[in-house]
Amino acid sequence: MILKLLDGRESSILIGENIENLSNYFNSAKVFILTNPDISDLYSDYFPKNSKVITMPAGETNKSLNTVLNTVRQLIAAGADRKSVVVGFGGGIVCDMTGFIASIYMRGVRFGFVPTTLMAQVDASVGGKNGVNCDGYKNMIGVFNQPDFVLCDPRTLKTLPDREFKAGMAEVIKCGLIVDGDFFSYIENNINAILNHDRDMIYTIVNKSVGIKANIVEADEKESGERKKLNLGHTFGHAIEKHSNNALLHGEAVSVGLVIAAKISEQLNLITNEDFMRIKNVLQKTGLPVTTDISLANLLEAIGKDKKRESDSIHFVLNRGIGNSEIREISFDELAILLNKALETL
Ligand SMILES: NC(=O)c1ccc[n+]([C@@H]2O[C@H](COP(=O)([O-])OP(=O)(O)OC[C@H]3O[C@@H](n4cnc5c(N)ncnc54)[C@H](O)[C@@H]3O)[C@@H](O)[C@H]2O)c1
Ligand SMILES: [Zn+2]
Repeated sequence: MILKLLDGRESSILIGENIENLSNYFNSAKVFILTNPDISDLYSDYFPKNSKVITMPAGETNKSLNTVLNTVRQLIAAGADRKSVVVGFGGGIVCDMTGFIASIYMRGVRFGFVPTTLMAQVDASVGGKNGVNCDGYKNMIGVFNQPDFVLCDPRTLKTLPDREFKAGMAEVIKCGLIVDGDFFSYIENNINAILNHDRDMIYTIVNKSVGIKANIVEADEKESGERKKLNLGHTFGHAIEKHSNNALLHGEAVSVGLVIAAKISEQLNLITNEDFMRIKNVLQKTGLPVTTDISLANLLEAIGKDKKRESDSIHFVLNRGIGNSEIREISFDELAILLNKALETL
């Protein structure tokens, strides 16, 4: 799959490619693998032979400028220059940081990703958003910049903890919900086999989700319109993630956000109660959370500080049936009323 970018460049997304072939996708003598210690333990045999490996600490609290600075210092010490290629090998945190570091190091060096979580394969590695957190606020510092290549080897998902796999499924389900009802039905009908890592089905869900995201990104690289649809479930997802004090994974918080968005869509007569139940059920069958005990006041406070806030209203993504969605500007006052009602009936 080739992603055509505004600046005329192209980004290759290779789904089903083997990690053994990684070195076919760049031609530089200086290759730096950015990863974390756990992934390095599991996959160092697959790092290109002549590459230098730099590990960054795992975890959302380490997705920070501090880690960026430490990594830049290590790149300098190891002699990385403008002709170097930087490869992020790991989950969404590694990819987000690698893209950011490669974009600012010496005003930008070439980079690629080998995403190793479902979340990173279907979402974080595609679309060109790279950044780090600041003071507990997610992705506050970052850039838009596309990697030269993304190599998705579904076999890497076999070593992924079950909980992380399920969290990635929230984004897969989101992709079906926003633009493709048939894909949503496919997930619904095959959820058990997918959770059992059926090889062909994993390939299908990764391929389909990346295709959906790539199409949307190609049409709206800088998120001025349609791309906002990818934020379905994320307004409250981010609020819940923040208030859970890292007890919930991103995808788990998004799952609850998807249920809230669906309930609000039902209240606005954009979906039926039957549709709402389908959405909630598939998330529940995946083993994802579908309710929250975070208070209305805390959720509203958190979305007030969400960076997507625009004046007194918010661009909120709503379901329109299954497999369709719309972006609607909703005032904070109206959203407060809708959310209050939604939380009572989740
Ligand atoms: N840039 C974007 O568009 C975008 C989109 C979605 C998410 N994100 C970001 O991605 C991050 C979440 O990414 P994530 O869910 O991949 O979490 P993560 O990067 O923290 O990885 C989850 C855990 O799995 C481990 N791991 C990774 N691959 C493994 C494998 N193959 N086998 C065993 N263990 C493995 C990691 O070491 C880590 O402990 C968040 O910071 C989120 O904001 C960014
Ligand atoms: Zn997400």
